Amino acid sequence: MTSYRIPFNRASFVGNEHAYIAQAIANGHLSGDGAFTKQCHAYFEAELGVAKALLTTSCTHALEMAALLLGIEPGDEVIVPSFTFVSTVNAFVLRGAKPVFIDIRSDTLNVDERQIERLITPRTKAITVVHYAGVGCAMDAVLETARRHHVPVVEDNAHGLFGKYRGQYLGTFGCLATQSFHETKNFTCGEGGALFINDPQYVERAEIIREKGTNRSRFFRGQVDKYTWVDVGSSYLPSEILAAILCAQLEARQQIQAKRQHIWETYAVALRAWAAANDARLPLIPADCDQAYHMFYLILPSLEARTRLIEHLKCKGILSVFHYLPLHLSPVGQQYGYRPGDCPVTESVSDRLLRLPFYNELTSEQQADIISSICELSL
Ligand SMILES: Cc1ncc(COP(=O)(O)O)c(C=O)c1O
Repeated sequence: MTSYRIPFNRASFVGNEHAYIAQAIANGHLSGDGAFTKQCHAYFEAELGVAKALLTTSCTHALEMAALLLGIEPGDEVIVPSFTFVSTVNAFVLRGAKPVFIDIRSDTLNVDERQIERLITPRTKAITVVHYAGVGCAMDAVLETARRHHVPVVEDNAHGLFGKYRGQYLGTFGCLATQSFHETKNFTCGEGGALFINDPQYVERAEIIREKGTNRSRFFRGQVDKYTWVDVGSSYLPSEILAAILCAQLEARQQIQAKRQHIWETYAVALRAWAAANDARLPLIPADCDQAYHMFYLILPSLEARTRLIEHLKCKGILSVFHYLPLHLSPVGQQYGYRPGDCPVTESVSDRLLRLPFYNELTSEQQADIISSICELSL
């Protein structure tokens, strides 16, 4: 096994995490929905203006809740990017839906909004978009098409917390939106997520689904005198220990985002000339997007060039990694009848994209080392 001097990712505590974990233990409430969970919910509702925020055990689980809330059933179709993490799709496939894969734009790597219309059929029950690398999709066009066809939009905002599109926070456009607090994300509690509910009609049922199909949340608010089984559901509440960690991370929002902005901008400035000379390209941030500074990637001229750069960096003890493999060409995707050429931009980008080390504790010296190592190589 290779050991890397500079890893791709490293989870880090930023301030009050240990103190808040100790406080959660002292509170004697370690299951979900205690004081720290409520603090996180209140923070998201106040800061982002979502009607309801519910912490979950992962973004995957928040997506599963979204599929349940939208009543997805066998035979339904859900439009999803092929260039995404498997959970964006699996959550709907679990309910029996057929994934209808949409290609991405070659500039932002977000869903190509111009292709949505032709993929909508009478069976389309949801459109799910991913704000790749925390850069907003063209939500005006996505929502306009969706509204015209009365199809709900779900935002998989795993990368994009605090990013904005046309001045509005990502995660506040779709009727439902999902977040990830996995350790690779800007704000983490190890494993965790959240469901943001922007359409209030889903709030009551979301609380029930998250609480094993019971009306326990209403019971705790004194709205019913006992709680019971009222719907389908599962256990999607994270423990208070995780919520305590997340609270501490959210409190350090300015510090974390400023650090990540600095890392991103340093890469962008330092690699511009090398990219131009080597037929590579840097991420493109449209003027109407405030990105979330989640990731820095390069798009290299070919798969062969990417392999050479990965190997070169590996020899220097630096771990760089590629990202999603096209889901439409995965074994499951092929069972749905998808073939090479169905999402050509996804297929091309997937072969050529390389993510550079990016984490809150990356030092200036480490970053300078990464940059000079890249600049040594001519592709
Ligand atoms: C776009 C996207 N959606 C969902 C997920 C799943 O997140 P989680 O690990 O919190 O379930 C990921 C994971 O990185 C992701 O990249």
